[in-house]
Amino acid sequence: MSNSSIKKVVVVGANGSVGKPTVQALLDEGFQVTGITRETSKATLPEGVTHIKSEYSESSLREAFKDQDAVISTIGSITPGEVFTLQKILIDAAIAADVKVFVPSEYGIDTSDPSAQEYIPFLADKIQTLDYLKAQQDKISWTAVVSGSMFDWGLDIPGFGGVNIPAGTATIFDGGDISYEATNLSQVGKAIAKSLKKPDLTKNQYVYVNSFTVTQNRVLAAIEKVAGKKFTVSESTVEALWTDGAEQLKAGQPMGVLAMIAGAIYGKGGLAQFSTTKGLWNEKLDLPQEDLDEVVKGYLARK
Ligand SMILES: NC(=O)c1ccc[n+]([C@@H]2O[C@H](COP(=O)([O-])OP(=O)(O)OC[C@H]3O[C@@H](n4cnc5c(N)ncnc54)[C@H](OP(=O)(O)O)[C@@H]3O)[C@@H](O)[C@H]2O)c1
Repeated sequence: MSNSSIKKVVVVGANGSVGKPTVQALLDEGFQVTGITRETSKATLPEGVTHIKSEYSESSLREAFKDQDAVISTIGSITPGEVFTLQKILIDAAIAADVKVFVPSEYGIDTSDPSAQEYIPFLADKIQTLDYLKAQQDKISWTAVVSGSMFDWGLDIPGFGGVNIPAGTATIFDGGDISYEATNLSQVGKAIAKSLKKPDLTKNQYVYVNSFTVTQNRVLAAIEKVAGKKFTVSESTVEALWTDGAEQLKAGQPMGVLAMIAGAIYGKGGLAQFSTTKGLWNEKLDLPQEDLDEVVKGYLARK
């Protein structure tokens, strides 16, 4: 099956953090875009996008996916089991509707290594989704976009990864010089759209992209420079950050997973350092990297 002409694309979860910039990037690249949200969603989608509300039954999705070339999942949930259950329905409906490509909801650390779920438990759902897709790649092809830390999304959460912009504080882990991959939401959207522009290249592949490879110290210096002030800095270790999150999760506090995510980004498991371990696809996709200082300047100017 050749995927050489992808024109009509569905984005599932089109109003989410990743869904919105993905819809925009697809429009910018000239795709015909349909966005799916739940029946209960109050979302309005941009002009030019066909909006379908679905209760996520396989039959309603099969109808929505008719004549579509690609289905992109941008569904987000940290509830164990939820993302695989939903994506299995999406994949079954996409196969039944003869869709060529399925893009699963990844956009984080490298789940091609099954140990990823030891560091962030809800990644078990993503790994299970890929296993399901790989078992059926004679019926539908897949492209998994791996993008590391979601840079601007993380800055929006005071304290995430130790950085609290409103409070002017930062915790630096293991000295702050560990390199990791970081990608802005808009760059994730562009990476998805560019991947679908080169479907034969990206067919059944993990596609590794970023905005930049950074360190905590580099990010803090960029923020301090633009903010024009020194932050109050404390020190800790990646192990303590991750373990604290794991203990919160064990004690029934689901948001403890944020500290586990940050720990994984800063090196626990080594799965957010893929520019060196796997190599970046940015050039192959015609997806330029971004400039950290410019991005921080733009980010703080919008706040
Ligand atoms: N690496 C990182 O640092 C990082 C950060 C953020 C996200 N991510 C990843 O990016 C992906 C998307 O995350 P996101 O932050 O964009 O998610 P999000 O905004 O929380 O949710 C995206 C959409 O998922 C839909 N959704 C949620 N629960 C659902 C359910 N039970 N049934 C049907 N639809 C449901 C909602 O659509 P409706 O409009 O229908 O309500 C929502 O708009 C996830 O795989 C996430 O793990 C990675």
